[in-house]
Amino acid sequence: MRVLGIETSCDETGVALFDTERGLLADALHSQIAMHADYGGVVPELASRDHTRRLLPLISEVLAEAQMSRRDIDAIAYTAGPGLVGALMVGASTAHGMARALNVPVLGVHHMEGHLLAPMLEDEPPAFPFVALLVSGGHTQLVRVDAIGAYALLGESVDDAAGEAFDKAAKMLGLDYPGGPRVAALAEHGDPTRLRFPRPMTDRPGLDFSFSGLKTHTLTAVRKLEQAGQLDDQARADVARAFEEAVADTLAIKCRRALQQTGLKRLVVAGGVSANTRLRAKLEQETAKQGARVYYPRGRFCTDNGAMIAYAGAQRLQAGERDPLGQMKAVPRWPMDQLAEPRRG
Ligand code: KG4
Ligand code: ZN
Repeated sequence: MRVLGIETSCDETGVALFDTERGLLADALHSQIAMHADYGGVVPELASRDHTRRLLPLISEVLAEAQMSRRDIDAIAYTAGPGLVGALMVGASTAHGMARALNVPVLGVHHMEGHLLAPMLEDEPPAFPFVALLVSGGHTQLVRVDAIGAYALLGESVDDAAGEAFDKAAKMLGLDYPGGPRVAALAEHGDPTRLRFPRPMTDRPGLDFSFSGLKTHTLTAVRKLEQAGQLDDQARADVARAFEEAVADTLAIKCRRALQQTGLKRLVVAGGVSANTRLRAKLEQETAKQGARVYYPRGRFCTDNGAMIAYAGAQRLQAGERDPLGQMKAVPRWPMDQLAEPRRG
């Protein structure tokens, strides 16, 4: 079955063609980062308009790359949520319109399920069951995954998501949106011994996270340096480093705990923040100590993309799941534990 995947939940338009026999045939992405950068964050209306402009040309590009035509598409998967509703609507309506024209099934997919399954596109995919750390701009969650659709939430952020904390720390340091990669680049020049930031909620049991205190701590540190007339390039880099070390350590500590608690030996890390190299290094260290292994998607599939949606959709479409005719879905909030295992057809 050849599945066209469409991702338009936020600020990237992603399209891919996945074949359940041959694997990923082609994928293409248009990032809106440059467009939103002038505003310091995603402007929802601009995001929707840009998805409208980009989506059809991207679909043509992917089909051309795979040397196929629209007639070769057997089913369509699109991101139905969570995300910005206007942006989601562009993908949902395009998917439903195409599905009707081509007379093929169509299915709305959960964005975080896409992230969670992205490592399945790699050469050595993880076997079930595993623990997944989902770290994106909107989510920080630890999930026990027993099968596709069998997700048990182990812990999550009670306030900001890790990616959101990176983006806010970046603003404090005068860096552009999106902050994660920029904070990471600046932290490279930072001295890890100059400042030490707290590792929130690691001193008590449990698998929940909180990043808002760390954000305040970062702001206070920046202000103090500024008032002392010491906020030069080196000091900014030192703050970025201290912040990044604190986030990466906190995530690694909780992952270690989740593996201990579940007795599992496989950890999947996905979502935008999983691109962070310091986080990866810490997770490698922690899992090695426990005789466990960590799995990631390739770099470009850490952040939003169409391939993960095509893959996740294919698993469910193959089992016979589909949207009822004409009922497109676009939901801003959609808890992942509401998902069920695909029906075996
Ligand atoms: O998964 P994603 O592309 O979109 C959402 O579903 O939210 O994640 C985007 C988030 C942003 O907050 C961005 O700053 C963060 O991932 N991010 C990073 C890195 N690359 C992206 N954070 C830290 N280090 C990175 N290298
Ligand atoms: Zn995402």
